[in-house]
Amino acid sequence: MNRSASPLGKDLVGLEELSAEQIRTILDTAEPFKEISERRIKKVPVLRGNTIVNLFMEPSTRTRISFEFAEKRLSADTVNISSSGSSVTKGETLVDTARNLEAMRIDMVVIRHGSSGAARFLADRIPSNVVNAGDGSHEHPTQALLDLLTLRDHLGSLEGRRVCIVGDILHSRVARSNIWGLLKLGAEVGVCGPRTLLPPGIEALGVETFGRIEAALEWADAVNVLRLQLERMKSGFVPSLREYNRVFGVTRKRLEAAPRDVLILHPGPMNRGVEIDSDVADGPSSVILEQVTNGVAVRMAVLYLLAGGRPEKAEAAKRGGLARE
Ligand code: CP
Repeated sequence: MNRSASPLGKDLVGLEELSAEQIRTILDTAEPFKEISERRIKKVPVLRGNTIVNLFMEPSTRTRISFEFAEKRLSADTVNISSSGSSVTKGETLVDTARNLEAMRIDMVVIRHGSSGAARFLADRIPSNVVNAGDGSHEHPTQALLDLLTLRDHLGSLEGRRVCIVGDILHSRVARSNIWGLLKLGAEVGVCGPRTLLPPGIEALGVETFGRIEAALEWADAVNVLRLQLERMKSGFVPSLREYNRVFGVTRKRLEAAPRDVLILHPGPMNRGVEIDSDVADGPSSVILEQVTNGVAVRMAVLYLLAGGRPEKAEAAKRGGLARE
């Protein structure tokens, strides 16, 4: 495969930078890759010979493991690095860490970092492909892509569909990536939460704002429920978690009062009883675990395309394999 011919360019930093066509290409490429995870032997030689470093400087369960499964199922060689076990704790910079990894001849870096802009900063400084696995409150593109794939599975085309993101929009990279992706695919986007957790001027992006969860559920075909990111809050943005649940919690009673079936998404990790009640999270409208399953296929598609795989050859690639040239 020819990496320089990737339809995505060198890196995947955010959905703000992608066109609607590039987003559709990723989602369409993920479709044939879904089936690999259903096989008894979940492995194809598509990325044989590629070395991928997962550089996770912030905690993660779903994203880190999902990328690792995607890499292993495509037969790439993988190395996992976290801040606690690395020389970052001795003061080494991000770029020095990456350059040392490159000296050992790697091909891609998947990075999660607490600072907004860290993925772009790295992508501009190393020749390896860089994939953003979440940077501060900036973007989490593969999360939004798996959300879009899950919405598309259930709603078909997203053109004119109404999706409301509920909760802590202010601190959420998932919200930002979802807003870019949904708008580019023609959906109507709403955000709902306490005014203190909605970024000032967010309406300028072309989203509808809701101050009441009941109104959001009445409007939406799907809601993507976010947790309160208490670790990023420097002061009290909500009076208490109990109060938040009472006013903004997605509860069965509120869902049943909606005029149509509303699809429930959540990127995880969930705080049950705060932003979402258990009988909603585990109920018939929930597609939360489907999101997790789709995450592996979406990440396979992103890695394949960045490595120079052609979208139209994804079906053939998963049967026969295309190693890097
Ligand atoms: N959705 C998500 O990013 O989860 P993790 O923090 O567990 O990776």
